[in-house]
Amino acid sequence: MESILRSELLVTAALLVAAVLFILSLRGLSSQETARRGNLYGVLGMAIAIAACLSKFGTAYHPALYGAIGIGAVVGAVMAARVGMTQMPELVALLHSFVGLAAVLVGFSTDFRGDGTGLGLPPPSAGLRVEIFVDVWIGAITTTGSVLAFLKLRGSVSGKPLLLPARHVLNLLLLGASIACAVVYAKDGNQIALQIGTAVAAVLGVHLVAAIGGADMPVVVSMLNSYSGWTASAAGFMLHNDLLIITGALVGSSGAILSYIMCRAMNRSIWNVIFGGFGAAPPAASKDKPAQPAGDVQEIDAATLATTLLESKSVVIVPGYGMAVGRAQHAVREMTEILRDKGVMVRFAIHPVAGRLPGHMNVLLAEANVPYDIVLEMDEINQDLPSTDVVMVIGANDIVNPAAEDDPTSPIAGMPVLQVWKSKLVVVNKRSRGAGYAGIDNPLFYKPVTKMLFGDAKGAIEKVVTALRGAVS
Ligand code: TAP
Repeated sequence: MESILRSELLVTAALLVAAVLFILSLRGLSSQETARRGNLYGVLGMAIAIAACLSKFGTAYHPALYGAIGIGAVVGAVMAARVGMTQMPELVALLHSFVGLAAVLVGFSTDFRGDGTGLGLPPPSAGLRVEIFVDVWIGAITTTGSVLAFLKLRGSVSGKPLLLPARHVLNLLLLGASIACAVVYAKDGNQIALQIGTAVAAVLGVHLVAAIGGADMPVVVSMLNSYSGWTASAAGFMLHNDLLIITGALVGSSGAILSYIMCRAMNRSIWNVIFGGFGAAPPAASKDKPAQPAGDVQEIDAATLATTLLESKSVVIVPGYGMAVGRAQHAVREMTEILRDKGVMVRFAIHPVAGRLPGHMNVLLAEANVPYDIVLEMDEINQDLPSTDVVMVIGANDIVNPAAEDDPTSPIAGMPVLQVWKSKLVVVNKRSRGAGYAGIDNPLFYKPVTKMLFGDAKGAIEKVVTALRGAVS
């Protein structure tokens, strides 16, 4: 008896340590300098949590559990090693669907536990049935919503938002049906009600995500991340597992906060993400505008740019999605090093939604060993742009589009942007005058202050690096 108590106490203590490590992990992940350490805390916390949970059960389960954990670990490691940065939202969406599916399966197995399973457990009480329903319901929404988000991101399913005329009424009807199923199941333990409730939630998950444009999926993925956290938390209540409750709440709230930050940076309403209609057609006034820009631009070549950069006192680099696609971060770091060695102050300006996933640019720059202290957030650097000699925009478009401030009919009107046009010279590197993610023209290209450096980001910046080396040697 005493030894059982002692081992239970040990398990509880281990779960508490894991919970603290998860909190430290989130804290670490909030800044570039500490992100690696944060990741390690997360890995350690998860290892402790798995070991503690395994030690709670009889040894009879171990072969199957070890097998599942082993296969899962190998599949996870292979997937993580193979995935490209730009495919990250796809992978994350897929992983959320696993969390949702696990919650549904665990919910159903908890419901079946009294049905001649030989475990000797009583059938679930009314209170437990409520917990089972909530767990299964959120889990089903997360599963189908995440699978659809994954398919949209991959391009396997059209990215067009499905905007049914009475979609909000349909959502309300599905919600009403779910509540009815929950009441019936909680009262009588009617398994059909649980199954219908799960099917309704699965349809709701598809409908909520179908109403959102494919290109806006990263925000939805972050929202689904939040749902998967709440699913885990509900599972924690159902299984009386405190660690799951804490971890789920951490994931749920951090996902919700991230979605809110992304929506604010994109000037969108968070309610649109939750209830659909996000990424729908742009305002009527902008529909007739050409996606392909019209007007004259001034070009600059790599050699002239290299000379101009060396003559500058301060340079700000604005990386965007094109730098990621072109894998130009290492060339950009080389360029930065040469300029800094020559006494030029070089800093990076990071827009909160540059690229296609949160922290996209920070990760790429960290991978290329760009010092953290010269990588600044938009709010930190916008006021310095008027006194900057050269702003180099590398593969960015929407995040430096002045139409967000000047054109109230623009689809991105009101979105906070980097005011690069206020600097003394702007050099924009991209392959063409083509539009970015929002599919709209960018008046920045035609401003007298702007010069275009056409070409693939990696090739173009490598040419600048060669020219810089030639000039300084
Ligand atoms: P975008 O506006 O998408 O512009 C990227 C530009 O990169 C394109 O105009 C493209 O022009 C250029 N490009 C593509 N491949 C290139 C290459 N190999 N070399 C050089 N240039 C290349 O990107 P942004 O400025 O980073 O803005 C991000 C957009 O994504 C925002 O609208 C944001 O709202 C949206 N978004 C972001 C997120 C997150 S969390 N970051 C999530 C969802 C949506 P060319 O074809 O002419 O080269």
